[in-house]
Amino acid sequence: MATPGRTQKQIAERYKGNLGYYKRKHPWRVARWCVSFLAIAGGVAGIILFQKRGNEEFFSSGKISSNHATFAQDCAKCHDKGAVLGDGMTLTKFKSVVKDRFHRGIDFTAIDLKCEQCHKQHTLHEPNVVENSSCSVCHQEHLGAARMKPVADLQCASCHNNSGVMEASAQKGAQLPPAAFHLRPHPAQQVVFEMPRPPRGYTQVLSSFAGDHPEFQLVREKARDPDVLRFNHQRHFATDIPPVEKGRKLDCNYCHKADPEGRFYQRISFEANCQACHALLFDKNNPQLHIPHGDVNLVRTFLRTLPAQYGDYARSKGKTRDGDVQIFVAEQIRKLREQFHTGEELERAVFFEKDPYRPQRQEAAATKANYTGCALCHDVKPDRIATATLTKPVLVDRWMPQAKFNHAKHQVDPITSEKLDCNRCHRALVSHETSDVLMPARADCVTCHSPKGKVVSECITCHGYHAPTQMAATDVHADARGAFKQMLLGSNR
Ligand code: HEC
Ligand code: HEC
Ligand code: HEC
Ligand code: HEC
Ligand code: HEC
Ligand code: HEC
Ligand code: HEC
Ligand code: HEC
Ligand code: HEC
Ligand code: HEC
Repeated sequence: MATPGRTQKQIAERYKGNLGYYKRKHPWRVARWCVSFLAIAGGVAGIILFQKRGNEEFFSSGKISSNHATFAQDCAKCHDKGAVLGDGMTLTKFKSVVKDRFHRGIDFTAIDLKCEQCHKQHTLHEPNVVENSSCSVCHQEHLGAARMKPVADLQCASCHNNSGVMEASAQKGAQLPPAAFHLRPHPAQQVVFEMPRPPRGYTQVLSSFAGDHPEFQLVREKARDPDVLRFNHQRHFATDIPPVEKGRKLDCNYCHKADPEGRFYQRISFEANCQACHALLFDKNNPQLHIPHGDVNLVRTFLRTLPAQYGDYARSKGKTRDGDVQIFVAEQIRKLREQFHTGEELERAVFFEKDPYRPQRQEAAATKANYTGCALCHDVKPDRIATATLTKPVLVDRWMPQAKFNHAKHQVDPITSEKLDCNRCHRALVSHETSDVLMPARADCVTCHSPKGKVVSECITCHGYHAPTQMAATDVHADARGAFKQMLLGSNR
């Protein structure tokens, strides 16, 4: 250690005659004081002036996104000047502000309230969420004039990849009534296949789609289609199936027609998809005369007014004179009596077993399918009056309501540029039963949606976050929603 050049005493000696130094004025010190005062007073004056007539843009921490460009200058749309203190500071309010500032640096609560004024119904994700994130965690403002940045996986992971949060959510979910979940409204006529919520909800911890994302519930729980309509996909691709038109083999798109956006497929219809081969014949002598499809009572009326039906048929074939028509009708009824002895026998045949082609099947081999009564395709039960009741089929329109699939984006393989085969995702060619659910498994998607497959696999590629806005229309869950709102806005903390 170096020895000091001078002792303390020697240093003190230096100021001996100068102890009143700080009491005396000195031009430099006066100048310093004046500058400091001016800086503070000027600053305060500046703030007051700005409050009165300044351009607020000056304070802005960055440009507002194009989504909100129309009111970018109107800071008060999102920032509530009185929000932090509002009508007085309470201890809880103070604590929450301090907590927020420490956690995130900014008080989001007041801003969230503002967001919600314009974007109603945007709080709900799931009712068992333990602590909702602020809007601004996922949708960040002041980052530039472009559209807001898409929501990052990290935001979903903050809950979904956090075992503590998920465990707490599972427990909270157990306290809530089942009706609080599955709030996905859809048009009344749309049939959605909704799996029951598992006992622990959808709270499995996951970090990425390609990694530990759960297998789709339909596949995981080996769901069955409860529909009673009989249909065997594999049978319809056998070699003996006739072409639907000249030169056109039966293919998926003959029956499955995309909706106008190409997003989903429309419901099957008998007239458009089955009738060409399974026409509802009852009289082998008049194969062009068909039973109307779709309403059991209409069918009965048709069968009980056969003379009138034959009459219309004759006129449609160009018989104009009444006499000719009557002769034709009488002839047909007589011939039909040879096939069926009573009206009841005819009805039973139509509903259950009659195959008018069967006797000639060898010659007429498989040009058309053979009609064997409604019961070929339907579940038909004889009821008390020896007539039939038919269980209406229920064809499902949507299978995976928790994701937002789009067929239009899956027309070609992005790597080979070849047309994407339906069977790559749907195992239709090996399905014998209606009860088979022909839905893809996660592995069918991971081939592409993974870092290896090079197609985006962000959570928001396939999922949304908010409950759909139609929620506003149905008020069944108003109570539950109120609770979420409170939770988000922190008033129950
Ligand atoms: C569309 C809503 C919106 C508008 C309009 C808006 N802001 Fe912001 N502002 C936010 C949000 C959200 C935050 C929170 C942090 C973030 O996302 O950057 C924020 C944060 C800020 C911050 C920093 C954080 C803090 O302590 O509060 C300042 C400063 C700010 N805004 C100023 C302005 C000014 C000045 C204007 C008007 C020119 C303005 N903002 C207009 C949404 C908005
Ligand atoms: C004064 C009303 C108003 C306020 C306040 C407001 N927004 Fe908006 N927001 C709009 C309008 C209008 C649009 C434009 C919709 C569009 O782009 O089609 C929009 C668009 C958006 C979009 C994009 C929608 C899309 O379709 O891509 C998001 C996300 C969004 N706002 C989030 C927020 C957040 C978060 C806040 C609070 C910081 C907020 N908004 C505050 C009116 C508002
Ligand atoms: C955990 C993240 C997260 C939070 C928190 C969040 N959002 Fe969103 N928000 C999303 C995602 C994801 C989308 C869908 C974006 C997409 O499909 O590109 C979305 C979409 C939107 C849209 C576009 C229209 C729509 O309904 O799809 C608006 C507006 C919006 N959010 C507003 C809000 C408001 C207001 C809040 C706060 C009450 C909020 N968001 C909180 C993730 C979030
Ligand atoms: C604040 C916590 C939280 C955040 C952030 C969050 N989630 Fe969730 N999410 C949950 C909880 C809790 C459940 C479980 C619901 C249940 O048990 O039924 C869930 C369930 C889901 C489900 C399945 C249930 C359904 O009906 O759709 C999907 C899909 C989902 N989240 C996607 C997302 C995506 C995408 C994001 C990011 C944009 C996200 N989540 C962000 C808490 C969160
Ligand atoms: C002759 C008409 C017909 C043809 C051709 C056909 N389907 Fe179907 N498909 C149906 C009917 C009827 C249903 C509804 C009954 C059922 O669930 O099996 C259905 C249902 C489906 C479903 C919904 C899921 C399900 O389990 O119900 C998928 C997916 C499907 N078919 C895929 C295909 C694919 C892929 C092809 C081509 C290889 C194909 N179908 C060819 C008639 C057809
Ligand atoms: C990349 C995988 C994939 C391919 C390829 C694919 N699908 Fe699908 N398909 C799905 C998924 C996922 C669903 C479930 C969508 C839903 O209902 O939410 C679905 C649903 C369906 C349904 C049920 C109704 C509906 O729209 O939801 C039919 C029918 C269907 N697909 C037919 C076809 C046909 C026909 C082809 C070929 C032209 C085809 N799919 C190609 C994945 C695929
Ligand atoms: C291209 C012609 C064609 C079309 C279109 C067609 N089928 Fe078939 N179908 C046949 C043939 C051929 C058979 C075999 C008949 C036989 O073995 O006697 C058959 C057999 C059946 C069977 C008996 C299956 C079995 O396993 O033995 C049912 C049920 C059936 N079809 C339902 C339907 C339904 C429902 C539709 C419309 C969604 C339909 N078919 C469309 C030609 C067709
Ligand atoms: C080749 C198979 C096939 C035969 C045979 C058949 N149906 Fe159907 N039926 C269907 C299909 C496919 C649907 C569902 C699509 C539709 O409604 O067009 C259906 C639907 C129905 C429905 C429900 C309509 C609705 O609006 O929901 C009734 C009722 C019905 N059929 C009655 C009959 C009666 C009665 C017969 C006998 C005269 C018959 N079907 C013969 C295939 C068949
Ligand atoms: C390539 C599309 C895709 C991606 C990417 C994806 N998911 Fe999914 N996810 C699905 C499909 C499809 C389902 C099944 C939906 C259904 O059954 O209705 C599902 C189901 C879920 C479920 C319900 C799980 C259960 O137990 O049944 C949760 C939670 C979920 N996803 C969260 C996420 C999160 C978080 C991410 C981001 C890390 C993500 N998903 C990425 C397609 C995807
Ligand atoms: C052959 C490759 C391939 C397979 C297999 C595949 N996808 Fe995709 N998927 C794509 C491509 C390419 C896109 C378009 C990405 C883009 O727009 O950047 C896409 C986009 C999507 C989107 C976004 C649709 C939209 O509206 O933008 C969803 C959701 C999706 N896929 C779900 C699935 C699911 C679920 C499966 C499994 C059943 C699946 N994909 C299988 C290639 C594939």
